[in-house]
Amino acid sequence: MTSKTTQATKSQQIELASRPNGVPTVSNFKTNTVELAEIKNGEILVRNRWMSVDPYMRGRMKEGDSYVPAFEIGEPLEGGCIGEVVESRHDKFNKGDFVLGNLGWREYWKSTGTGVVVVDPDLAPVQTYLGALGMTGMTAWVGLNKIAELKSGSTVFVSAASGAVGSIVCQLAKAKGCRVIGSAGRPEKIKWLKDKVGIDAVINYKQTDDLAGELAKHAPDGIDVYFDNVGSEHLEAAIEVMKDFGCCVECGMISTYNTTEPPAAPRNLFKLIAKRIRMQGFIVRDHMRDRNDFVQEMASLIKADKVIWEETVAEGLDHAAEAFIGLFEGDNLGKQLVRLN
Ligand SMILES: NC(=O)c1ccc[n+]([C@@H]2O[C@H](COP(=O)([O-])OP(=O)(O)OC[C@H]3O[C@@H](n4cnc5c(N)ncnc54)[C@H](OP(=O)(O)O)[C@@H]3O)[C@@H](O)[C@H]2O)c1
Repeated sequence: MTSKTTQATKSQQIELASRPNGVPTVSNFKTNTVELAEIKNGEILVRNRWMSVDPYMRGRMKEGDSYVPAFEIGEPLEGGCIGEVVESRHDKFNKGDFVLGNLGWREYWKSTGTGVVVVDPDLAPVQTYLGALGMTGMTAWVGLNKIAELKSGSTVFVSAASGAVGSIVCQLAKAKGCRVIGSAGRPEKIKWLKDKVGIDAVINYKQTDDLAGELAKHAPDGIDVYFDNVGSEHLEAAIEVMKDFGCCVECGMISTYNTTEPPAAPRNLFKLIAKRIRMQGFIVRDHMRDRNDFVQEMASLIKADKVIWEETVAEGLDHAAEAFIGLFEGDNLGKQLVRLN
């Protein structure tokens, strides 16, 4: 803790300018500069070094109900970020600490420390706490362990397999002795999944009009678990190829986030009954009490070189909106981040 105080801090932030209709465009975002008054006793001033862009933010750009409150027009966006404490008048934080917070999309933020976690830069580069050691890694871990209750020897199908969540799902399932089939939409992603991540088979879903047929070729006896990041045709194909008593882990449905009409697929939901399939959605936030278990397990996998990851990095706040929009074009391999140095 320091008692030093500074003058007001100028901070650039990205605000929601308008609500998108369909795929977001950069015109839905606006840059503004605000002044933060100097911190008081019990507060910290944090300079963001990294911020996360995530598909769920698209839901927050809509008006109305989602599982997180909507962003307001004219207000800054929010999201996971890693910042450096540049000033502290709080006895639990020191100048120079790296902290995980939820006030991304801006240069600086002030906090009383509630919900702010100091991260250990010796374990992994600090931005890893937005990816493999953070929300997306934990989503993979919760989905497989708590929702699917994954058993070794299972056959697992993962959509958006080269993304932040999907790539960790693939590796946790492989570490448990499962056969893993992934799907992705670009040749370089397919190559990375095969050569570096080492999963058993990968489907380029953009190069087939028979996803169920392709999946069945790689899983002739059927799949036990589908980890759904995409929804629609992927979900339909997974149900088609699922074994009796299999499980669909509903993590996300990115293929539907920008649609203006209800999705046509899945058209085979009756098979949930015929095959006695369990389908369960989840939100990682509900499992935060397990965060320490997750960090411990992931940290030991990282130390043992049993988990790898990729990052796609956009440079500067000015490119944050493009980085976010790119998620829906498949521009990212692994975790999409924005560096704010
Ligand atoms: N339930 C939870 O608590 C929770 C938490 C975090 C994330 N999620 C969900 O998990 C999913 C993955 O999130 P992430 O952060 O790991 O993102 P990500 O997979 O790193 O990035 C998104 C990827 O989705 C694929 N994609 C985009 N549009 C698509 C479409 N129309 N059809 C098929 N694939 C499409 C793209 O890869 P391709 O090139 O392969 O198309 C893109 O790179 C999302 O649905 C997200 O909402 C849920």
